[in-house]
Amino acid sequence: MAVIGFGYVGSCIAATLADRGFDVVGVDTDPRLIEELARGYCRFQEQGLADMIFRGVTTGRLRVTTDSAELASADVVLIAVGTPIREKGALADEQLRGACLELSRHLRQGQLVVLKSTVPPGTTRDVVLPLLEQSGLIGGVDFGLAFTPERLAEGTALAELRTFPIVAGGLEPDSTRDVAAFWHRVLGVEVIPLDSLESAEIVKLADNWWIDLNIALANELAKFCALYDVDVLDVIAAANTIPKGKGTVNILLPSVGVGGSCLTKDPWMVWRSARRRGVEILTAPAGREVNAGMPEYTAQLAIDELVKLGKNPATAKVAVLGLAFKNNTGDLRATPTRGVVETLVETGAQVRIFDPLVDVAHAEELFGITPAASLQEAVQDADCIAVLALHREFEDIDFAALPVARSCLLLDGRAYYSKEKIASLRRLGYLYQGIGRVGAPAAPDPHSYPVAPVSRLVEGPVAALYVESGS
Ligand SMILES: NC(=O)c1ccc[n+]([C@@H]2O[C@H](COP(=O)([O-])OP(=O)(O)OC[C@H]3O[C@@H](n4cnc5c(N)ncnc54)[C@H](O)[C@@H]3O)[C@@H](O)[C@H]2O)c1
Repeated sequence: MAVIGFGYVGSCIAATLADRGFDVVGVDTDPRLIEELARGYCRFQEQGLADMIFRGVTTGRLRVTTDSAELASADVVLIAVGTPIREKGALADEQLRGACLELSRHLRQGQLVVLKSTVPPGTTRDVVLPLLEQSGLIGGVDFGLAFTPERLAEGTALAELRTFPIVAGGLEPDSTRDVAAFWHRVLGVEVIPLDSLESAEIVKLADNWWIDLNIALANELAKFCALYDVDVLDVIAAANTIPKGKGTVNILLPSVGVGGSCLTKDPWMVWRSARRRGVEILTAPAGREVNAGMPEYTAQLAIDELVKLGKNPATAKVAVLGLAFKNNTGDLRATPTRGVVETLVETGAQVRIFDPLVDVAHAEELFGITPAASLQEAVQDADCIAVLALHREFEDIDFAALPVARSCLLLDGRAYYSKEKIASLRRLGYLYQGIGRVGAPAAPDPHSYPVAPVSRLVEGPVAALYVESGS
């Protein structure tokens, strides 16, 4: 079998299939990626992935190449190239078109082509099929064509690949049957056959539309709880106890924001696809708007808490731990942490950044700040530590041993520290604050910046922030 696009998704799928004993060739247009792998470097920070890739390479079950001629030898060709969007949901389909055109040059009778990349409904039928048919072969007659969305989440991708049910929609019944049989054979997971390509395409969008909107609900609930000094995690845990539908109410967790390559684009695909057919979808953009506002909300939370502590946000030292878009990945695509850092830098804060999982050069380029080489360096004399992605590496931080300033604020953007942990942090002299969590009435440091009305505290760009937040 072959996988076109050896990116985050393609590499996880290819390595998993090779690990399960199948011969897999990964075809990618990026020669640097192939060169990195050849010298033993894996750019994807997904637990267990690098080991699995190199195990596959060593046993010869997995090969990665730029040579698309290799596609001819595969019985099944999976397409997992990137499908980003342009402004508000228009598919940037260059990667997809390139992959299909290349495949059409090597397509042969009897092959099954399976699209994994997320696309607006109708793309497999209207874009992929005609490009493949440039081969002279006919879809559904000479070759099979199906869409089976990839629904894994970074950070837990490999386990999910082996357990999540796979949704499968074919061009015609034979393709649906063949793709269902394929996934059942290679992964042994439940397969849910659907009536059409479009139904399978929409399933993926429905999942992410729901997730993004649900997180938006959690984020607004967090803001709501903060008004009453109520811990949003208590509210969510209790609210989630009543049965509803086939499960219970299931409000997800609030956070510094939603990032990555999927949740930030898929709701826009929904919105645009509907609009092109004359229907205005309201919930998808609403979820996007709420979640896109969370980085600034988080930065403002830090600024407000620093002021309460008697520290001047315009000169404060802030250490941001975790730059990736979520816990336990090194992926910086659309990371909400960038908006937090930008807002803090605009206030004048001295921001240091640290994330052991991200590519240092990429982080430097994205944030305009050279990442600290170590946790100790990042938090030296910090007035605020903002934990914005709680990677495993950060789970056991010994806060007592950190060389922070007195009355250091611990801002919890995605750590969800327990009440016991928060109490222990307070005993160590930290002030804790999280998204929708109950803040601490910590005593201001008597030697630090005098608490005064905000308008007197700040000048320049930071003043504008206060005006906005105060309205
Ligand atoms: N990353 C995720 O968590 C995730 C989860 C579920 C679904 N998806 C979807 O899966 C798809 C892939 O996402 P990703 O995160 O792996 O993207 P990615 O950008 O990490 O990988 C895409 C890869 O395709 C390669 N490529 C581009 N054009 C090519 C061509 N013509 N031929 C061969 N290779 C080509 C690129 O070089 C790159 O390595 C997207 O549609 C995405 O929405 C991603």
